[in-house]
Amino acid sequence: MCGIIGYTGVEEAQKIMLDALEILEYRGYDSAGIAVCGRDGSIRIRKCAGRVKDLRLLCEKSGIFGTCGIGHTRWATHGGVSDANAHPHKFGKVTVAHNGIVENYRDLVQRYHLEEKLQSQTDSEVAAAVLDHFYNTDPLAAIRKTVLKLKGTFALSIMFDDIPGTIFAVRNVSPIVIARAQGGSMLASDVTALGQYSREYFVLPEFYVAELKETAVELYDMAGEAAEPEWLTVNWDVDRGSKGGYPFYMEKEIMEQPQVIRETVMPRIQGGIPDLGGDGIPDSLLMDCKRICVVACGTAMHAGLVGKALMQSLVRIHMDVELASEFMYTDVIVDEDTLVIAISQSGETIDTLEAVKHAKKSGAKTLAIVNVRGASVARASDYVIYTNAGPEIAVASTKAYTTQLAVLYLLTGRMAYVRGSFGAEEAKAFAGELMRVPEVMQRVLDRKEEIHYIARSILNAQNVFMMGRGLDHAILLEGSLKLKEISYIHSEAYASGELKHGTIALITEDTPVVAVVTQGKVKSKEFSNIKEVQSRGAGVILFIKETFGLEKEASWESVFMLPAMEDGFMVMPASAALQLLAYYVSLDKGLDVDKPRNLAKVVTVE
Ligand code: F6R
Repeated sequence: MCGIIGYTGVEEAQKIMLDALEILEYRGYDSAGIAVCGRDGSIRIRKCAGRVKDLRLLCEKSGIFGTCGIGHTRWATHGGVSDANAHPHKFGKVTVAHNGIVENYRDLVQRYHLEEKLQSQTDSEVAAAVLDHFYNTDPLAAIRKTVLKLKGTFALSIMFDDIPGTIFAVRNVSPIVIARAQGGSMLASDVTALGQYSREYFVLPEFYVAELKETAVELYDMAGEAAEPEWLTVNWDVDRGSKGGYPFYMEKEIMEQPQVIRETVMPRIQGGIPDLGGDGIPDSLLMDCKRICVVACGTAMHAGLVGKALMQSLVRIHMDVELASEFMYTDVIVDEDTLVIAISQSGETIDTLEAVKHAKKSGAKTLAIVNVRGASVARASDYVIYTNAGPEIAVASTKAYTTQLAVLYLLTGRMAYVRGSFGAEEAKAFAGELMRVPEVMQRVLDRKEEIHYIARSILNAQNVFMMGRGLDHAILLEGSLKLKEISYIHSEAYASGELKHGTIALITEDTPVVAVVTQGKVKSKEFSNIKEVQSRGAGVILFIKETFGLEKEASWESVFMLPAMEDGFMVMPASAALQLLAYYVSLDKGLDVDKPRNLAKVVTVE
């Protein structure tokens, strides 16, 4: 959940690292620090609780200069938020920045008699101490011995006092990418931090050791044999990683959706029909499975729920959506007839990754829908389809979600076609409607100020309810998560028909209700349920498909007419509207939209 950075080369490491840490800050933002090897060969550290901007101020007052350093931005796991617990940690001759969790740190403290020697409460300092214990003059041997002792996940960047100018890196699960850049070599937790410096990078393979020097990067396996990195190219424009004039990344990423959906969909339509051949997905994979099971967390799981509704109604295949964090502990039935689809923006969510490994052991075929190239979930799966969303920096996911949906539409369309639920003409009509999504979504985004105005009516609410049926309910689950995480307003999304079975007791005139009505087959039932909450005094904000029309006598807090598509595709314009609603509530409350409290973008702890 933390971000790590390392640079060794000819330029000042402090500046490069502070700039990169600002980009990585979305991974964790409760403390930050850097360690720099000075020209005299000594390692100095600056670190503090707070944001990277606080670290920058510290460095302005008392800079540390040199051309080799490692840095860290933290999301606390072991040990509270304090200056002492901020990384990097120095123990003996070893300085370390760590992302992950060393699960057996207590055993290690006892075994290596560290009780009285540690300065912090972190598991990471323990890793530094174990490294120091094994370090004599051979860094690779010390790293090998240490990783054999560590249980858990780790991405470690390491400097040794007596090897100035060199950074070592090793990882298990938690990511590290490496590039040659800025007259030297760089490492980072993800490629967004390196994209402005280099287009070429490689993902450090698990349990390999990288040695970064000014002039080269060497890679070794655990036996100490040299290995060749597998170089990748950054596949998005550098300015995709900047705010592009918007006050927050979230707004920029919402506004980018028409473009990135187009980039996700268009290359995968061949002869007018969805086609995943370019991603290496054989039709046999889609034809032979008897059921589908999605594993995912949070927003990605909500995308799975939309996928389930589509697959079940259009392909008529049994599909489950499982919380990845529960998957291994609830005896979910998956076997060789199951296609397990793992959905993840980062591709590093540990629960999703573990679920994929578990599914593979059970004999299932695995397909990842991932945004970040080369990420762990993609590597662990048999097949991968990348969403072309580009870097998503705001903690609250928006464009990653809708590009995941776009891939799920493509999968549904292809599956329906190869399994015979669609003839060629139906498949073409389905793809044609999918290709209209960017233009229709743009029409919602062009009216963002209307939604800004609507957002004012829930600004001071303590609780908000959201209601809809079928696909409307599936997207409201996501709309509600968006509102809670960035505005801190308690919000619940309910299947409209379920409210009266208990929860309607909470509805009063102080409870704004957001209703979405886009599905012809449940429209009249949705209106009946809306009347039930209106009778209890709730003001209703309605997002409705423009062709449905409104009863004259009904009264609304506000109404937003959603541009019309086929019902099955209304998810897309409605999702954009709900994202904007959450965004403007958070913005008008004066909150840090991109970095909501307690959260981190990449969740690498179970
Ligand atoms: C909410 C959000 C999270 C993520 C979840 C899974 O806006 O972004 O709920 O969707 O943590 O993350 P990924 O998709 O990286 O596996």
